[in-house]
Amino acid sequence: MTVRTGGAASSVQASPDVSDSFSVHGVSALQARTWRRLAARHGTPLLVLDLGQVRSQYRRLTGALPGVQMFYAVKAFPHPAVITTLAEMGCHFDLASSGEVQLMRDSGVEASRCLHTHPIKSDREIVAALDFGCTRFVADNEVEIRKLARYRDKLDILLRVSFPNPGARCDLSKKFGCTPASVGSLLELASSLKLNVAGFSFHAGSQVPGPEMHVHAVNQCVELLETYRDYANGSLRTLDIGGGFPADYDCSGFDIHGFCGPIRQALSRLPSDIRVIAEPGRILVASSSTALASVIGHAVRGGKPWYYLDDGIYGSYNGIVTEGARYPLVPLDGEGDLQPSVLAGPTCDSFDVLSDDLPLPSLKVGDLVAGLVMGAYTYSTATTFNGLPAAQVLVRGQSDLARRRAKASRAG
Ligand SMILES: Cc1ncc(COP(=O)(O)O)c(C=O)c1O
Repeated sequence: MTVRTGGAASSVQASPDVSDSFSVHGVSALQARTWRRLAARHGTPLLVLDLGQVRSQYRRLTGALPGVQMFYAVKAFPHPAVITTLAEMGCHFDLASSGEVQLMRDSGVEASRCLHTHPIKSDREIVAALDFGCTRFVADNEVEIRKLARYRDKLDILLRVSFPNPGARCDLSKKFGCTPASVGSLLELASSLKLNVAGFSFHAGSQVPGPEMHVHAVNQCVELLETYRDYANGSLRTLDIGGGFPADYDCSGFDIHGFCGPIRQALSRLPSDIRVIAEPGRILVASSSTALASVIGHAVRGGKPWYYLDDGIYGSYNGIVTEGARYPLVPLDGEGDLQPSVLAGPTCDSFDVLSDDLPLPSLKVGDLVAGLVMGAYTYSTATTFNGLPAAQVLVRGQSDLARRRAKASRAG
């Protein structure tokens, strides 16, 4: 077996389109052997989930933001093993749908550890979360406040404020959040409807390029909390600083503690009676998983080698399209010199191409390709288009308790 190591991607002229989605990274021979063995035993496409990585990312983030209560954004990787692992570590949960509510029920997570953060939701979704026992929701506009006011005796809300961040991979403030200028009128409306507002939330954008927008948003919220200090007898006591913390997609040893330094400093300006919470998703799970795919076909088209994998854009690699993701890609096999090649997914759609100019050795049917840093928004966004199965998840590093729970749930 040949394991190709780092730097090769940059030695080939890349076209400006999807080929930019990849770089090739060094993987140890031992690691490659382990993946090869797992693929042989379990088949591909396979998502190898290492819970040890989830634990260490949780420790790193909580260490970088001391005093901030973490609510894992379940949407990032809604797998029972991830939920159980984080629950065991004391993490709380950010839910956005009745499907995620059901996952909490199935995983034995208490509703008191959950927050419903979807700013726009149907009445049916609200009722499902209330039935579960969730008592805190998020709103960002008049219609939503009126909707939630019907349940004023059972819930309170955080008002989500928008802080646009075009530099983030996903600028969530395009779609959600009220402007800081409209906070006053929305607080008045909630008050007139006797709906309790418990504080503010924001999302600085997913995969932010730096901490600047978190810092700006915290500073703005410090001012809002000061301005509305006397609102409803001081009910504004929570600040939710959202998610957005970046994953280390280029495997360069990203320093979470250093990244969060300016955010810690901004948070230190908050009055001591303000509870600070966060909704991290990507940063906790991205590095936990490796996608293993097999070459299922090979052709030469226009003089270029094409390799067809059993995973693609409609499967685990969905993020290439939805968020311009750049997953490090490592061929675990192959012979000869690297040549600009096309890597395609398994569906009949011509759009299903992962990269159209990737330097690859000569691959044959059955050879393996590993996608690194593939835990966030991969499992959760994969489809079964064309009747092709999404990657199976292979869980490694489960605690004894989680293993017993999974066994019990399989039994019945
Ligand atoms: C409301 C909310 N909170 C948290 C997250 C998680 O964000 P990230 O994965 O960037 O940490 C998202 C992502 O879409 C979100 O919509």
